[in-house]
Amino acid sequence: MKTRRSIHAPFALTGLLALLFIAGFVAGCGISGTDIEKFAKGEVERLSGEKAVVEDESKEKTDDPKEIQVYYNKFNKSVSNRTRFQTGTKDIIALDVMPKDTTGEVNWTAAVILGVIDPAPSIDLNVEDEPPFDLNVFIEAKVALMANVLFPHSIHTYWLKCSNCHPGIFLPEAGANKISMNEIFEGKWCGRCHGKVAFTFWPRANCVRCHIIPKGESLSKENWQ
Ligand code: HEC
Ligand code: HEC
Ligand code: HEC
Repeated sequence: MKTRRSIHAPFALTGLLALLFIAGFVAGCGISGTDIEKFAKGEVERLSGEKAVVEDESKEKTDDPKEIQVYYNKFNKSVSNRTRFQTGTKDIIALDVMPKDTTGEVNWTAAVILGVIDPAPSIDLNVEDEPPFDLNVFIEAKVALMANVLFPHSIHTYWLKCSNCHPGIFLPEAGANKISMNEIFEGKWCGRCHGKVAFTFWPRANCVRCHIIPKGESLSKENWQ
C-alpha cells in the first residue's frame, strides 16, 4: 500500500527532497528504500530541529483532485523558496534585484512567484492578459529511485502560449510522448527550451527543479492517469 507523508516544516520538506534525490544517485549500493527513508527522516529532524511528522500509513489516501493539486503546489512553492537572493550581477545592473539560482543565473520562476516582476502581456497596451493554465502533469522517471517529474503548466503558460508546445513539441495528452532524458539532453522535448532559454540541466540542484517528486512521495500514479 502506498503512503503519503506530510512533513510540517518547509525546510524539512526541502531537505527531504534533496536527500531522497541524492539517494537516487546512490541507488545500487545495496541500501533499501526503507533505509533511505529512515535516514532522510532522521536527517530532516537533525537539520531542521523539528520532528518530521509522518502520517499514519493506515490513513485513507486522497482522491480529491483539488487536494492533490494543493499537495503538488506545495512542492512548487518549496522550489521557489529554495532560491537565494544575491546582489552584484555580472554586467547587467537591472538583474541585481532578481532572485538567483545556485549558478547565479536569474530564477525567472521565483521572480514571478515572489512578485519581483510582473511583465505586461504585450507592448500593445490594449492586449488583455490571459491567466496561466493551472494543470500539473505527473511524468514518471522510468528508473528506480530517480525522483519523478512534475510538469507545471502554470509557470509555462505564464510565459508561453499553448501553441508553443502543442502539438509541435508535445501531444497534449499525459503519457502520450515518449520522452527520455537522453533526448532531452540532445535538445528534444523539454530540451527545446531548457538548457537554452530556460534553466539549464546542470548543476545537480537544477535536476531537482524538474525531478521534484521523490519516488514514494508521488501519491499514486493511478491518481494521474
Ligand atoms: C512548455 C510546453 C507546454 C505548454 C506551453 C503547454 N503545455 Fe500542455 N502539456 C505539456 C506537456 C509536457 C504535457 C504532458 C505530456 C506527456 O505527459 O507526455 C502536456 C499535457 C497537456 C494536456 C493533457 C493533460 C492530461 O492529463 O492528459 C492538456 C489538456 C494540455 N497540455 C493543455 C494545454 C493548454 C490548454 C495549454 C495552454 C493554455 C498548454 N497545454 C500549454 C506541455 C505544454
Ligand atoms: C517552449 C519552451 C519550454 C519547454 C518545451 C519546456 N519548458 Fe519548462 N520552462 C520554460 C520557461 C520559459 C520556464 C520559466 C523560466 C525559467 O525557469 O527558466 C520554465 C520553467 C520550468 C519549471 C519551473 C520550476 C523552476 O524551478 O523554475 C519546471 C519544473 C519546468 N520548466 C519543467 C519542464 C519540463 C519537465 C519540461 C518537459 C516535459 C519543460 N519544462 C519543457 C520553458 C519550457
Ligand atoms: C527540464 C526538466 C528536466 C531536467 C532539468 C532534468 N530532467 Fe531528467 N527527466 C525529465 C523528464 C520529463 C523525464 C521523463 C522521461 C521518462 O523517464 O519517461 C526525465 C527522466 C530522467 C531519467 C530517467 C531515465 C530516462 O532516461 O528517461 C533520469 C535518470 C534523469 N531524468 C536524470 C536527470 C539528471 C541527472 C538531471 C540533471 C542533470 C535531469 N534529469 C534533469 C526532465 C528533466
